[in-house]
Amino acid sequence: MNVPILSLPAVLAIGMIAAASAAAADFDAPSYHDSQCTRCHDSGVYTRANRRVRSYPMLDAQVARCDANLATKLFPEDLQLLTDHLNDSYYHFAK
Ligand code: HEC
Repeated sequence: MNVPILSLPAVLAIGMIAAASAAAADFDAPSYHDSQCTRCHDSGVYTRANRRVRSYPMLDAQVARCDANLATKLFPEDLQLLTDHLNDSYYHFAK
């Protein structure tokens, strides 16, 4: 009997594609923010008078730096959604 066997690299590739698309579809930026990003600071740092982030690229970089402190390590698409969430809610920079 001849059973078709997928090669290991093929199985890994299929798994990675499935994981990446699931992450983008399931990601909820506001709830991720409220559960993960408020461990060191609350959202007051985004609206304080002397806030440090002054442009969309700076916001993008800061979100990535802060996220690197967490164990979750977001996918780039999810980081983008998180940056947009902060921009829409607090910073309002033109992109
Ligand atoms: C390990 C601690 C830590 C975690 C977790 C963390 N941050 Fe931060 N974050 C900081 C520190 C420290 C600062 C700088 C505060 C200061 O300048 O007084 C900062 C500043 C920021 C700023 C800039 C505020 C300004 O001045 O404009 C943004 C935006 C930000 N964090 C977003 C996030 C997001 C989004 C997450 C979740 C992915 C997150 N942070 C999680 C430590 C953290």
